[in-house]
Amino acid sequence: MKDFKKGLEGIIALETEISYIDGVKGILEYRGYRIEQLAKLSFVSIIHLLLHGKLPTIREHDQFSNMLKERRELDVHTKEVIHFYNFNIEAMDALMTAISHLSHSDPDLNSNSHEENISKAIRLIAKAPTAVAYFQRIHEDKEIIKPNELLPHSSNFLYMLRGEIPTVLEAKILNVDFILSAEHELNASTFAVRVTASTLSDIHSAIISGIGTLKGVLHGGARLAVMNMLDEIGDPKKTEKYVMNLIKNKQRIMGFGHRVYKVVDPRADIFRDLAKKLAEEKKDMKWYEMATKIEEVVTRELVEKQGKTIYMNVDFYSGVIYKYLDIPPKLATAIFALGRITGWLAHALEQYKDNRLIRPRAKYIGDHHTPE
Ligand code: ACO
Repeated sequence: MKDFKKGLEGIIALETEISYIDGVKGILEYRGYRIEQLAKLSFVSIIHLLLHGKLPTIREHDQFSNMLKERRELDVHTKEVIHFYNFNIEAMDALMTAISHLSHSDPDLNSNSHEENISKAIRLIAKAPTAVAYFQRIHEDKEIIKPNELLPHSSNFLYMLRGEIPTVLEAKILNVDFILSAEHELNASTFAVRVTASTLSDIHSAIISGIGTLKGVLHGGARLAVMNMLDEIGDPKKTEKYVMNLIKNKQRIMGFGHRVYKVVDPRADIFRDLAKKLAEEKKDMKWYEMATKIEEVVTRELVEKQGKTIYMNVDFYSGVIYKYLDIPPKLATAIFALGRITGWLAHALEQYKDNRLIRPRAKYIGDHHTPE
C-alpha cells in the first residue's frame, strides 16, 4: 500500500465547484467570486450563490429572502424541548440537538431527492439562528423573541438574541461575519459532512456531523478560545508578557496558524478592519488594542525570528468582534456554524449529485498474531 499523509495534509480527496483557495497567494473564492467582492453583498445572495450556483437577480433575491423569512419560526415540538436542554451545555450542543429535532418535524423527512433536499436546506438555514437564539434566551430565563420579518437574516439573529434592533454597523458586521464563515473548501467539518452524505444518509445527519466537527478547538472552537484569551489577558499592558509566556512554553496561540494558508487568511484582514470600526463606534479600543498587540508579538517572535508561517486566521478578529457585540462566549462557535451551515449544505448537495462512498484506507502498524 502507498505511504500515507498524517492528517491527510495536501491530499486531494474530491472535486468541487463550490470554493477555491490559494493558500500561498491568500485567495478565497466562492463559485469563482473573490471573498472581498462577496463581503459587500447580502448573506441571502451568498446562500443563493452557494446552493443554486449563481448570484440572484434582484427579483430572485427578494423572493428568496421572503422564503427564508417565512421559515424562521421553529415547530412547536422543537421549541418545547429546548426548555429541557441542560443549561451548562455550549450552544453548539444545543444546535446539534435542535437540528435532530427539526428533522423529526421536517415535511420531507423521508425523501432524499434533490428538490426536497433544497427545501430542507432552506428550512435549516432559516431555522438554525432561531434555535440558537431561543436556547440562549430560555436559559437566561428571559422571554423568547420571535423572528422579525422586517430584519435581514443575520440582524434578525442578533435581534432575537438581545431584544434590540442592531445598529447599522453591527448589522453590517454580522452580515459580513455570516458571509465569511459560510464556506471554506474541504475543511475538517465540511469533510465530515461529505463523508456522512456519501453513505446516502440524510442531510440533517450530515449537518450534525459538521457541527460536531466544527466544535473542536483546532477548528471553529478557536473563536471561543480567542475570546477566553482576551478575557484572561484583561489589560492591553499585559498582552506582551502573556503571549511571550505562551511562546516560551510552546503553547499554541489561538486564532493563528492554518493548514492551507501560508500567508494571512484573507478573511482575517476584512475582520480586522471591521473590528477597528466597531471599537471606534463603541468608544472602547481595549479589545482591539490587545488583538493588534498579540498579532505584533506573534509576527515578531514566530514569523520573523523563527521563520514559521503562522499568521492570523478567520477566528482571530472575529473573536474580537464578538467581544464588542457582547456575544456570550458559549455562543461563539454556534454563530460560526450559523454561517457555515450554508457551505455544508452546498457540499452535501454536491456530494449526493455525483456520489461515491468516501472510504479511505488505513496503514496497519499493529502486530499480526499467529494462532498457537
Ligand atoms: N501557535 C503557535 N504555534 C503554532 C500554531 C499556533 N497557533 N499553529 C501551528 N503552530 C506551530 C506548531 O507548533 C508546529 O511547530 P513545529 O513545527 O515547531 O512543531 C508548526 O506550527 C506546524 O503546526 P501543525 O499543528 O503541524 O500545523 P497544522 O497544519 O496541523 O495545524 C492548525 C493547523 C490546527 C489550525 C494550527 O495552526 C493550530 O492549532 N492553530 C490554533 C487553533 C486555531 O486557531 N484554529 C482555527 C483554524 S481556522 C478554522 O479552522 C476555522
